[in-house]
Amino acid sequence: MKKLFLTPALLALSLIASAQNKATINADEGKYVISKHIYGHFAEHLGRCIYDGFYVGENNAKIPNKNGVRLDVVAALKKMKIPNLRWPGGCFADTYHWKDGIGPKAKRPKIVNTWWGGVTEDNSFGTHDFLNMCELLGTEPYLAGNVGSGTVQELSDWVQYVNFEKDSPMSSLRQQNGRAQPWNVRYWGVANEAWGCGGNMKPDYYADVYRRYSTFMNTRVGNGRIFRIASGASDNDYNWTETLMKNIPANLMEGLAMHHYSVLSWGDGKKGSATEFTDQEYFKTMQQALLMDELIEKHSAIMDKYDPEKKIALIVDEWGGWYNVEPGTNPGFLYQQNTMRDAVLAGATLNIFHKHCERVRMANLAQAINVLQAVILTKGDKMLLTPTYHVLEMYNVHQDATMLPVSVKSDDFTLGSEKLPAVSVSASRDKAGKVHVSLVNIDPAKPQEISVDLKGLKASAITGRILTSANVHDHNTFENLNKVKPVAFNGAKVNGNTLTVSLPPVSVVVLEL
Ligand code: AHR
Repeated sequence: MKKLFLTPALLALSLIASAQNKATINADEGKYVISKHIYGHFAEHLGRCIYDGFYVGENNAKIPNKNGVRLDVVAALKKMKIPNLRWPGGCFADTYHWKDGIGPKAKRPKIVNTWWGGVTEDNSFGTHDFLNMCELLGTEPYLAGNVGSGTVQELSDWVQYVNFEKDSPMSSLRQQNGRAQPWNVRYWGVANEAWGCGGNMKPDYYADVYRRYSTFMNTRVGNGRIFRIASGASDNDYNWTETLMKNIPANLMEGLAMHHYSVLSWGDGKKGSATEFTDQEYFKTMQQALLMDELIEKHSAIMDKYDPEKKIALIVDEWGGWYNVEPGTNPGFLYQQNTMRDAVLAGATLNIFHKHCERVRMANLAQAINVLQAVILTKGDKMLLTPTYHVLEMYNVHQDATMLPVSVKSDDFTLGSEKLPAVSVSASRDKAGKVHVSLVNIDPAKPQEISVDLKGLKASAITGRILTSANVHDHNTFENLNKVKPVAFNGAKVNGNTLTVSLPPVSVVVLEL
């Protein structure tokens, strides 16, 4: 038998030729809107997210700021189109007493941040600082109320303090503190991870607690109503969702949360390096990320039983990759780097959220700056944009666009006997009629060619951007800010109703048709 020797070019060609990737975009079947709030973020009093991340202090002469908020961060987040920001936690939320963070800064009490590094929290960044910052960012605030160690009165007062326009004890206090008009905060979390750091409650108990707290929150805000979000399940705790849906009346709950992190193991120091991961670790992270699809499907199916009209939204208010902290940094600060692995994780997850946009109407990547899968890292006066930032910025064309249903038949990305779909695709039509298609190839070694049938769509012109890098471990550093950044993409062709796209290994592409 003759032996065949393939040159690298022939090998690449043969890999492409054997590809089976096919997709159909049903451009004539768009019904549901991809809420911009799926692109939300999360800022906890954790490590260097608030202090050193968003906020560097009013008296900082070295880093340009407005009322202490970094202006480079504001510009970057505005460009990314940040639609909402969750604050002050996380676990911190159920230890936070909002009255500690109002009034003259010098008089604010200091507390201990028991969850995150045991550091002293001086409360110099409080309600006014956060809500004014949201105005600067042009983003909607999402306040997480303290249920675990707070009181019904405290949460009810917070709502009155930030939302009530007429005369009342709390609105007068707000005015004394320098803010005449209410901020009209719509999104409210009623506890965080009530099954864990929020109080280790059982679902039946929390359902009753939730009913009490939500009853005393004034629902009127401006001309509308507030949106109360119950603390939801961790990952596949379907019993949590079932119990809450069964026991909380629909008129008390507008959203139900769910948290899912892509983590290798919850053991201390066992999450793997953010940058020096093995093939196995990479595969497992992708497995965890793609599990989001199944989790949403199963939680949604339970919600459908009690709420077939989908009035209650599923809110994935914590998601992202979670690795070991960077060597030499405080283990309680959760500071990690961000590579191309995180970029494809983000792209594939957002494609999943798009698919489920009828039920998933908000999500919050954990967390915005210097913590977990951050979009921004800071060091003194320097700031870098992570690969994840670039994906969220490229994808922002989908915000508030109509989702176009997509079916995909993907080649496998394999590791030993295990396999995952290599390619994911989503599409939407924006208000101006432009169609955007997002494609992700999670395979770190193999390029993928995909043929997409455009049903009900005649594309005349096509442009695009790509985020990729030679190595899946590649990331931006303070010495090399632009190692990973989006560039123009010319690997897509359209012929009649067929779109053909060549995706390099580990890549995220957004096309405009
Ligand atoms: O995002 C970090 C932590 O993860 C949050 O504080 C908590 O809600 C979750 O367990």
